[in-house]
Amino acid sequence: MPKLFFLLSGENESLPAAEVKAILEAEGYQYANAQEFDQVLRLEAEVGSVQPVQVRSAYTRVCALELFVSNANLTDIVKTASETDFKAVLHPGESFAVRINRIKNYADEAINTMVLEGKLGKQILDSTEGTKVSLKNPEKTFLGIITNEKLILGLKLTDITSKTFSERRPRKKPFFHPSAMPSKMARCMVNLAHGKAESLVLDPFCGTGTSLIEATYIGCRAVGVDAQRRMIMGTRKNLRFFNIAAEGLVLADARHLPFFKVDLVVTDPPYGRSSSTLKSTTKQLVQDVLASTYGLLSVGQRICIALPIMVNQHGEIDHMAKDLAGYIEGLGYKTIESHLVFIHRSLTREIMVYEKK
Ligand SMILES: C[S@@+](CC[C@H](N)C(=O)[O-])C[C@H]1O[C@@H](n2cnc3c(N)ncnc32)[C@H](O)[C@@H]1O
Repeated sequence: MPKLFFLLSGENESLPAAEVKAILEAEGYQYANAQEFDQVLRLEAEVGSVQPVQVRSAYTRVCALELFVSNANLTDIVKTASETDFKAVLHPGESFAVRINRIKNYADEAINTMVLEGKLGKQILDSTEGTKVSLKNPEKTFLGIITNEKLILGLKLTDITSKTFSERRPRKKPFFHPSAMPSKMARCMVNLAHGKAESLVLDPFCGTGTSLIEATYIGCRAVGVDAQRRMIMGTRKNLRFFNIAAEGLVLADARHLPFFKVDLVVTDPPYGRSSSTLKSTTKQLVQDVLASTYGLLSVGQRICIALPIMVNQHGEIDHMAKDLAGYIEGLGYKTIESHLVFIHRSLTREIMVYEKK
C-alpha cells in the first residue's frame, strides 16, 4: 500500500490523528503502520482514502503521498532526496514548487526553510526531465514537514480549508447559546463514532443542534432530543438556516428516549454551568443516557460523549469517565479512546468513545 501522510491541526494533541483513523475505518479503508509525529500522521493506505478525509475531516490540513523521511539536517536530506525517484511523480512538461513547513520550532537551528526549498527544488529539477519550477502556479507541490527532528517530504494530494467550519461556528448561527460546542469538535466526534453516509445519528442533548448539523454535512441522517422547548425551537431555526431537514427533533427527556434504533450517538451533556442539568446531576444524567442509548445501538456501534473533568475551589478533581468506568463497562460498553480538550483552569472536556460489546 502507498505511504501517505496527513498534516494535522495543532488545535488538539490527539484528536486530529484519531479522527483520520476513524474516517478510514468508517469508510472501510484498510490502513497499516500508523505512526504519529507532532501534527503529522503517517500511514499506509490506498490513495483513494484521502478523498473521504478531505470531505469529512475537521482537523486535517493537507493529505500527501509520502516520498521520503529523513533526519532534519541538510546532509541527510540531500542524501535521501538523491535516492528518491521524483520522476515517478513528476512528468516531463510539469511545473512544481517545494514548500517546507516547520512545526513549532523543530530543527530551527539546523534548517532554514527557504534555503531548503531552494536546494530541494534544484535537486528535483536536476533529477527529472523537462520539468520546471513555478512558485506562483505549480501543477505539483512537494510538501516537506519538519517535525520531531525529521523531515517528511511528499507530493501534496489535497489541501483542506477550515473556512466552512468557521462559517458554522456557534455565533454565526441564528440561534446561539453559550453551551454550544465548536463545529469542528462536533464534526470530529461524529467521525470518531464512525458516522457515515445514511447512518442515523442521535444527539440526546442536542442544544443548538451543532452535532446534527455536522453529521448531516457528511451525509448522516440526524435525530435530536432536548428537554427544553426553546432549545428544540432553536435547533430547528439553525437547521433551517443551513437548509437541513432532520429526521426528527423531539422535545423529550434523554433518559427515556423515544426511539427504537440508531447507528451512532454523539452528545455533549450539560455540566450544570452554561447549560442546566434540569434538577438532575451531570453524573446521573450521563449514567442514565448511557443506559438508555445502549438498547438503541447494535454490537460494534459507538457513542462519542464529551464528559467533564472538573476541579473545584479546593483543588479536588471530579473525573467523570474515570469514576464511571466500572458502571459503563458493566452496561456492556468497551472504552475505545479518550481525548482531553482543555477549556479553562477548572474544566477539561474529555471526549470519550465507547463501543457496544
Ligand atoms: C451542553 S448542552 C448541548 C450543547 C450542544 N452540544 C450544542 O452544541 O449546542 C446540553 C443540553 O442538554 C439539555 N438537557 C438537560 N437535561 C436534559 C435531559 N434530561 N434530557 C434532554 N436534554 C437535556 C439542555 O437543555 C441543553 O440544551
